[in-house]
Amino acid sequence: MTAPTCALVIGASGGLGGALAQALRARRPPETVLMLSRRDDGLDITDEQSVVAAVGGLLPAGVRLDTVIDATGILDVDGERPEKAFKEVRAEHMARSFAVNALGPALLLKHLVPQLAADNRAVFVSLSARIGSIGDNRLGGWVSYRASKAALNQILRCAAIEAGRSHPDVIIAALHPGTVETALTRRYARGRYTATPEVAAGQLLDVIDTLSPEDSGGFFDFEGKPIEW
Ligand SMILES: NC(=O)c1ccc[n+]([C@@H]2O[C@H](COP(=O)([O-])OP(=O)(O)OC[C@H]3O[C@@H](n4cnc5c(N)ncnc54)[C@H](OP(=O)(O)O)[C@@H]3O)[C@@H](O)[C@H]2O)c1
Repeated sequence: MTAPTCALVIGASGGLGGALAQALRARRPPETVLMLSRRDDGLDITDEQSVVAAVGGLLPAGVRLDTVIDATGILDVDGERPEKAFKEVRAEHMARSFAVNALGPALLLKHLVPQLAADNRAVFVSLSARIGSIGDNRLGGWVSYRASKAALNQILRCAAIEAGRSHPDVIIAALHPGTVETALTRRYARGRYTATPEVAAGQLLDVIDTLSPEDSGGFFDFEGKPIEW
């Protein structure tokens, strides 16, 4: 008999995280979908003690995780907009972007990959952004956000390689959700097609369902198409 499993959405207080948790609960027994967030649980992903406290006793004995969706992230930093040019680069802004968008997911990987159901297919995805693609960068700007998402992608790739050595059925990937109507995009998406969080969540779950171990370490959009690094 296979061991019971749960899914976990981190950043469930966010626009995409909330919709992803709701969509997962519609697709599987709702009691098998766990949620964590800073707002509701005090989880600060940039603080390792906070991560350990939140994920340490999360699972009942014998239960493993089959799906982890990290939907945390920031674009503005404490209300401050992303940089349009290098003259606007500020140390605190960039450091905070890296702390939340790169260090935080690294700490989540450190403490959650060991809790994945490694004897079966199990998935850990983080919401990255196409704008973190170096090859796709033709406009510049938004230096801290772009660079911190590029760092996130590299962190996920490292984790995928390491996990794949011992657990070939574990899939770790970066996903781009598209432009989605949430608090994060409110000031920036004007005039662009913007999906609702519900539509984006359905698309992302479909992509997660189709990922195979060969995709581990990859970067995919909301239709499952690979994105260049
Ligand atoms: N929306 C888009 O169009 C779009 C496009 C490309 C990529 N993305 C990516 O998708 C992800 C989710 O974005 P969203 O649009 O859903 O944004 P959102 O509504 O602003 O949600 C962001 C989430 O991140 C959490 N968070 C921020 N700092 C945190 C910290 N230090 N510790 C723990 N949680 C923290 C927030 O928690 P609290 O609310 O509890 O503070 C919230 O749950 C982000 O990584 C974003 O870069 C979004």
